[in-house]
Amino acid sequence: MEEKAMFRAVIILLSVVFPAMTVDHSKFKTCDQSSFCRRNRGMQKGMSGYEVIQDSLEVTDDAVRAMLINTKNQVEFILEITALDKNSLHLVINEKNPLHPRYVVRDALFEDLKTIKGFHLESKNTEKAVVEMGNFHPASKIELKFKPFTLDLYSGGDLVISTNSRGLFNIEHLREKKNPAPAVDDAPADSEESNKMDSDHPGQPDEDDVPGMWEEHFQSHFDSKVRGPESISCDFSFIGAEEVYGIPEHADNFALKETKSSDPYRLYNLDVFEYESWSKMALYGSIPFVVAVGEKRSVGLLWLNGAETWIDVQKGPETAVMSSIVNLMSGSNRRSPQVDTHWISESGVIDVYFLLGPGPKDVMSQYGALSGNTPLPPHFALGFHHSRWNYNDENDVKSVDSRMDEVNFPYDFLWLDIEHTDGKKYFTWDAVKFPHPKDMIENLVSKGRKMVTIIDPHIKKDNGYFVHADAQANDLYVKNKDGNEYDGWCWPGSSGYLDFFNPKVQEYWSQQFTLDKYQGSTLDLYTWNDMNEPSVFNGPEITMTKDAKHFGGWEHRDVHNIYGFLHVKSSFDGHLLRSGGKRRPFILTRAFFVGSQRYAAVWTGDNTANWDQLKLTIPMCLSLSISGIGFCGADVGGFFQNPDEELLIRWYQAGAFQPFFRVHSHIETARREPYLYGDETRGLLKKAVMQRYTFMPYWYTLFAEYEHTGVPPMRPLWMEFTADGNTLKMDDQFMLGSALLIAPVLDSRASTIDIYFPGTDAEVWYDIDTFKKFAKPGFELLGVTMASIPVYQRGGTIVPRKMRARRATSLMLNDPITLFVALDKGMRANGTLYMDEGDGYEYRNGKYALIEFSYQNGVLNGRNANPSGGFESKTWLERVVILGMKAAPKSASIVVGKIEEALHFSYDIASESLTVRKPGILMTTSNWNLIIG
Ligand code: GLC
Repeated sequence: MEEKAMFRAVIILLSVVFPAMTVDHSKFKTCDQSSFCRRNRGMQKGMSGYEVIQDSLEVTDDAVRAMLINTKNQVEFILEITALDKNSLHLVINEKNPLHPRYVVRDALFEDLKTIKGFHLESKNTEKAVVEMGNFHPASKIELKFKPFTLDLYSGGDLVISTNSRGLFNIEHLREKKNPAPAVDDAPADSEESNKMDSDHPGQPDEDDVPGMWEEHFQSHFDSKVRGPESISCDFSFIGAEEVYGIPEHADNFALKETKSSDPYRLYNLDVFEYESWSKMALYGSIPFVVAVGEKRSVGLLWLNGAETWIDVQKGPETAVMSSIVNLMSGSNRRSPQVDTHWISESGVIDVYFLLGPGPKDVMSQYGALSGNTPLPPHFALGFHHSRWNYNDENDVKSVDSRMDEVNFPYDFLWLDIEHTDGKKYFTWDAVKFPHPKDMIENLVSKGRKMVTIIDPHIKKDNGYFVHADAQANDLYVKNKDGNEYDGWCWPGSSGYLDFFNPKVQEYWSQQFTLDKYQGSTLDLYTWNDMNEPSVFNGPEITMTKDAKHFGGWEHRDVHNIYGFLHVKSSFDGHLLRSGGKRRPFILTRAFFVGSQRYAAVWTGDNTANWDQLKLTIPMCLSLSISGIGFCGADVGGFFQNPDEELLIRWYQAGAFQPFFRVHSHIETARREPYLYGDETRGLLKKAVMQRYTFMPYWYTLFAEYEHTGVPPMRPLWMEFTADGNTLKMDDQFMLGSALLIAPVLDSRASTIDIYFPGTDAEVWYDIDTFKKFAKPGFELLGVTMASIPVYQRGGTIVPRKMRARRATSLMLNDPITLFVALDKGMRANGTLYMDEGDGYEYRNGKYALIEFSYQNGVLNGRNANPSGGFESKTWLERVVILGMKAAPKSASIVVGKIEEALHFSYDIASESLTVRKPGILMTTSNWNLIIG
């Protein structure tokens, strides 16, 4: 490596290791610095030159097809609309005769998406065609306007999504470079590419070239754009929507903000050092998916594209145009709300899924049907994880583990960061510090715990490293534009990047996880995939150059946001391979794309120990949750810098109710293992973790349901209280399932917290600690102490918990259950409990128990809805706590079949709670009644 480049890499490396105070904006592009964003954002609204060629319209039972023409240059495009089960439509628009193929995203979506039939041409005149989709509920219509091309979707008679009504639709057709490149630079044109061009291609008239179309500079980096301009853009308006959510990952509020006077939201997987709070800058992962929520309905839109993407969001004056049309049709004079969005991607085709709801949970299940649901994680992965960069050696690991036990602090996983390897060569161990990895892992396992090692995708270019040798021998690396091995800098220094787009690489990578290949590993060693944006310290924007080449000849430009997805997919396959498909993988990833939920949990990367970043954990995880990735968490305590004790306590309390719960921090930070704190602080940290553990049966049930429904465990309030407009902007509270309202304390020195109880007068809520009842919707100012974790159980729900303290969740599997029955105003409640072996796939063969509980008229009924599943468990019913019981009962008894047994109980008049002790039945009992007399 040249001296200068080496120097730069060292500087970058240093700046990554030693925290500066803020993000360095100069390293990352603004829209203006990204020429395709600049070109498309600068388009004049309403000037769409695209028209539907009327005679080309063809409506069959299974599709709507038509040709579009760009009237400015006569380039033609093919449009196709198909339908998927569950109220979803798929729109694809591609060039009719592209100079070379345009990239179409594969892999991300669920393997066998089935289209359905049912299109029917209702009417057609010279202006538009109306097509019915009779199989949808409610019935839907597509209105295709010809001049200019506009696509309006109606659901149940209402216009819900309008495409190109603002005239921002644009596809930059692929073209030959007109003249020799303007003498901007000495970069060679890619002769290999030019050779591939189709010489018979009819010469298309091009718009004038503008700077940035054929090459681009950013800082010292040069991007040779051999294919020239190829961006796509389109506007979508959500009629009736009050707010739009999604497009992770940004460190910003949950409800998307207007971008009129800022840059658009950006989706480009990037390793941003010390990312800023409340910013639209791109972060580690990208899911080009939004959910638009209105009073009457929710809809979703997936813009399936793996290239750099920018999204503008607007509410406001422009909406008046569309609203007036809607009002004309509906006869109302109230202006209906609307959110306009404009999507711009650097390459690819228009590949859009419209999910027509109509409810938010319908949208979740539609998105799950498209991109796959999160598979049920192993039970213990839902416990508490402790990590730092780094635990130094085997003695350190041993000492952390035993010191946790000395203070009876429960935890499930200890994590090893990059320093555990031999010189940052993944799948190896530092022979001095970790000479006996198997024994070390076994020691943890003997306590009921597990371990994780980090496995990044960059490969040290060291001839003695087997992965590097294999990669070179079998041609497994990403290439640069000249066809040589791409070289980038990451933790090990000069590195190659495996090309996960090559199926051979995926297979190779998976094999590295097998126990004979990964020396020192066991089935209890799990995986953390980091730096997979990919992070390249000396690359443009700290990532791979866009003209690098992948398998199949695709440029990195086309697939950037998908790289990390394929990395974790290959790791997941590796986990399955090593256990012969018998154990559930557990993988954590930093980069992600559509569908990553099928393979990994996600954490929000390198946050900082401050109150804003604690607050951000909620909107960031909510955005991920509604975008398919419900197994999400943030580094508890903050990755950079040292949290004071107050912040650490509050972070544990919030993290305990978020799906992935892990403490992690930078190598330069002070140690923060809980035993290092005094009794009071440690007691509060422990209380938060214990709270988490008591809810393990509920968490596990939520994740089991999630696999089937696509409805995430961590939910925005509006997902449960859609009619309550006050919830739309709320992102400092959330729902855990439909039963728990979580409102963590997020401010320093808080002595009160303003809690919003959503819904109507029909609701009632119970403080889970004091059982205090809240029966009025709206804000309520409540006092808090350092011990407070404001969590409320919704009246009408039954939540299963396990109240015994254990040092790891694996030891809780057979522990007895306490049921918390929170009565609604009609003295009723319902709930479920899912149980299985905690790992493995037997549950998919029916080996599980699903207990349905209902309480009414003083009888709590429990029924195993899967009695023949063959799942056996020692878990029994230890206690039933009924909240909202107005008076002491005279008797309590448990009835199974014909046998009735009286039970002890106590009633607390102050909290109106009844505790019934030891019903004693096994939870898998097929049917029982607990009778309160
Ligand atoms: C990245 C990760 C961080 C990890 C570090 C060293 O910064 O985001 O979690 O500790 O790399 O591997």
